[in-house]
Amino acid sequence: MKTATDALRVTVIVGSNRHGRFGPVVAGWLLDRLRGRDDLAVDVVDVADIDLPTTLEPTARATAALADVTPRLARADAFVVLTPEYNHSFPAGLKNLIDWHFGEWRAKPVALVTYGGLAGGLRAAEHLRQVFAELHAVTVRDTVSFHNAGASFDDEGRLKDPAGPDAAAKVMLDQLVWWATALREARQRRPYAG
Ligand SMILES: Cc1cc2nc3c(=O)[nH]c(=O)nc-3n(C[C@H](O)[C@H](O)[C@H](O)COP(=O)(O)O)c2cc1C
Repeated sequence: MKTATDALRVTVIVGSNRHGRFGPVVAGWLLDRLRGRDDLAVDVVDVADIDLPTTLEPTARATAALADVTPRLARADAFVVLTPEYNHSFPAGLKNLIDWHFGEWRAKPVALVTYGGLAGGLRAAEHLRQVFAELHAVTVRDTVSFHNAGASFDDEGRLKDPAGPDAAAKVMLDQLVWWATALREARQRRPYAG
């Protein structure tokens, strides 16, 4: 059993699996922010590495993929979902990973980091809030979003102007830690009733 002083386990979910995707650049920035904190133990689940069929059929392929990913989601105390915006929402591969699971999300907090064109992925974030509410997960209020994300990073994948996003990430992660601590304690005291 985890104690209240154990580092919180935060699983980052990289939500884009598009060929030629930009997601790993934003993920690199996010992981730097997370690894700079001693209150968090970080795991990364990349949708591009999870070979789950969209039919929700428990095939051998699905079973093999779930054997890897499901325990990692189950162990998490909190999630940071990194998503681009595709046609005013989030990518199909990310929805597929979410839909294959249920209890792994319950009574846990989710922070959202988004990127895209002009809207910075904010519409994807709002759609994810609805999805995670259905799954009894709590999305934290503050997000980090990158509009015209490709232009925000240099050729080495460094943010050209990091002050704003770094400060926003701290606010978001502090909220995530508060919720993760509160909900971990609550789950240990009594099973979630929902
Ligand atoms: C199919 C598709 C649809 C997109 N739709 C939007 C959109 O509705 N709004 C937006 O701001 N950007 C949109 N974009 C731009 C992406 O958010 C942007 O290219 C982002 O870098 C994609 O993430 P990825 O490279 O990690 O896949 C779209 C891109 C693709 C491929």
